[in-house]
Amino acid sequence: MSPFAGMRCLVVDDEPRLRRVLIRLLEGEGFVCREAGSGVEALAELEKEPVPLLISDLRMPEMDGVTLLREVTTRWPETAVIVVTAVAEVESAVACLQMGALDYVAKPFHLDEVRARVTQALDKRRLIQENKSYQHHLEERVEAQARRIEELFLEGVHALVHALEAKDGYTRGHSIRVSHYSVNIARALELDQDTVDTIALGAELHDLGKIGVSESVLHKAGKLSDEEYRHIMEHPVIGARILGPLMRDAPGALSIVRSHHERLDGKGLPDGLKGDAIPLEARVVAVADAFDAMTSVRPYRPSLTVASAMAELEEGKGIQFEAAIVDGFRRAFPAVGSLPIPTPLLQPLRLPVRAMEARRA
Ligand SMILES: [Fe+2]
Repeated sequence: MSPFAGMRCLVVDDEPRLRRVLIRLLEGEGFVCREAGSGVEALAELEKEPVPLLISDLRMPEMDGVTLLREVTTRWPETAVIVVTAVAEVESAVACLQMGALDYVAKPFHLDEVRARVTQALDKRRLIQENKSYQHHLEERVEAQARRIEELFLEGVHALVHALEAKDGYTRGHSIRVSHYSVNIARALELDQDTVDTIALGAELHDLGKIGVSESVLHKAGKLSDEEYRHIMEHPVIGARILGPLMRDAPGALSIVRSHHERLDGKGLPDGLKGDAIPLEARVVAVADAFDAMTSVRPYRPSLTVASAMAELEEGKGIQFEAAIVDGFRRAFPAVGSLPIPTPLLQPLRLPVRAMEARRA
């Protein structure tokens, strides 16, 4: 049985005699043929039903074969086009090949040659389709793998967060609240979505370095000695060291972990960065972190009221905190009664888009 049995084909030529010759040949090979006397008719036929194979003369009234080819390759890219040319039109035929025709047949043609060209064109079409489908599947697989890598990364991060929770129950609620406040400040400041995602991730992880702080210091009920304070304040550096290899593609989130205790006046830790030298994401989280620390009950002190905490933030404007960010916090939470947020709102972590793109590149 012919490999072309039942395959549809459209023959386009303004000379009925030539159409018939071609159709007879193609039907002999098993094709089911339709015909058109011009480019315009051919387009109307394709609109009714597309075909896998189109054989078209180049010189026709109304719409020539080149214009028809341009239309077909744009609108029906799955259709294999073979152009029929006079010997003198070889240059046009080459131009057609460059425009997407799969082959050409020179007039006067031999039936064997037409058969060979049709076979070849349809083989090419099949290969092109297979290639496209392969690429499509490849893209899907790369996409799936990127998603898996992202999941593995977040699972790794969650494992670390859980390890810290087991050690210090306070931190989890604190991190989620800080993340919630920070994201709302970021939105009030109209930062882009990628920065918002970066801030959400970095804020959740900002205190992760407390994993490396000794429990006796972490849970101490009384006032910390200078040495104990210095020890606890190593957590930004420890956190950045632990997360560094995991977060090469999310430098913004990592910068929050390292720099959330920097102060605008340069008197913060660990690098004494000043003003704009502190990454914006970390400046945002610093405000949210301070607010939550002040409004939470800790083993060593009672909590401040929301109004007093707000007043502290106001006082720290331009010294410890960036004024615009404190203002952003006020805009994000205009009703003081809604603060502090009561129950930690658990939100799934997401990798910032830029980080995902970097992983896929
Ligand atoms: Fe911290």
